[in-house]
Amino acid sequence: MDNSPENILHSRIFNDTLRKWQCSNTEIATHNLMYPLFITDNDDTKEEVSSLPNVYRFGINRLKEFLEPIIQLGLKSVLLFGVLCKLKKDDSATNADSVENPVIRIIPLLKKWFPDLTIACDICLCPYISHGHCAILTNENIIDVKATCTRLADIACSYAKAGADIVAPSDMMDGRIREIKSRLASCGYISRVNVLSYSAKFQSCFYGPFRDAAGSAPSFGDRRCYQLPPGSKGIALSAVKRDVREGCDMLMVKPALAYLDIVKQTKETFPEFPLFVYQVSGEYAMLYYGAKNGIFDLRTALKECITGMRRAGADCIISYFSPEILMWLKDGL
Ligand code: PBG
Ligand code: ZN
Repeated sequence: MDNSPENILHSRIFNDTLRKWQCSNTEIATHNLMYPLFITDNDDTKEEVSSLPNVYRFGINRLKEFLEPIIQLGLKSVLLFGVLCKLKKDDSATNADSVENPVIRIIPLLKKWFPDLTIACDICLCPYISHGHCAILTNENIIDVKATCTRLADIACSYAKAGADIVAPSDMMDGRIREIKSRLASCGYISRVNVLSYSAKFQSCFYGPFRDAAGSAPSFGDRRCYQLPPGSKGIALSAVKRDVREGCDMLMVKPALAYLDIVKQTKETFPEFPLFVYQVSGEYAMLYYGAKNGIFDLRTALKECITGMRRAGADCIISYFSPEILMWLKDGL
């Protein structure tokens, strides 16, 4: 055994303070969390998502009472997803930005109830389009990129008009960031609204429970022609660089846990951009059911996961666990 002084590490971690000095910039504060919310067009309902325990779809009359105590705990930002139960889906996703869209209806209310809350809105066609893909398709079922980007810009502009602070396109179409940015500029929202690009979004089995929640599963095929292949790294960098060139304000890697090398690559390439990671629905379910079955303690496991995300370079974690984490933060996580 080599006992030379430079090999001795135990001396550096024998108390809490010493350990904390080894973990700089991995702390979690309230602004490091964003909470995803599903808003349905059934105004009076609050229904639990079957594959996501403790995650609900809210009608606009049910959200305030639920959100109030979480905001008291320090919640700073939310990410809104629309869910259609009554309104119709069609081939051009008309209800993504109709006056009846539940997200468009709830933004002004959220602003009135919680003036300091930062509101992000997911921008995509899949919850609103008949076939459930994230794009407009031609008669031959080919992606019509140009028509899709035009629709995405319409939708982004409507959410901006309703009062969103951040629009977050999750569709993965080529050229959407430029299209959305220039539309925000021509409509006069450019200095008030950020574009958070889902820039490195991988094709993932971990989105399964979300598609239940949002009713957004594709009715045929899958998303491998527009979401990134799980093993890829170079194209993730190209996608991030492209979105930066097109003018996005913030970056995202999604899912989080299986892609921390991409998080690190993205942060190292663009340290000047706030970097979001999305701890997606399947990651939530995995931790929830693991803990429920006695495999580990939820709080300890979750803390380890989100600390790893911060260490890899994430500035903000989008998590369905935000209420629990905020509660734990009260006594120092
Ligand atoms: C839709 C969208 C998805 C998620 C966010 N926006 C699913 C998908 O791409 O099919 C996943 C979020 C989650 O799993 O929690 N464009
Ligand atoms: Zn989509």
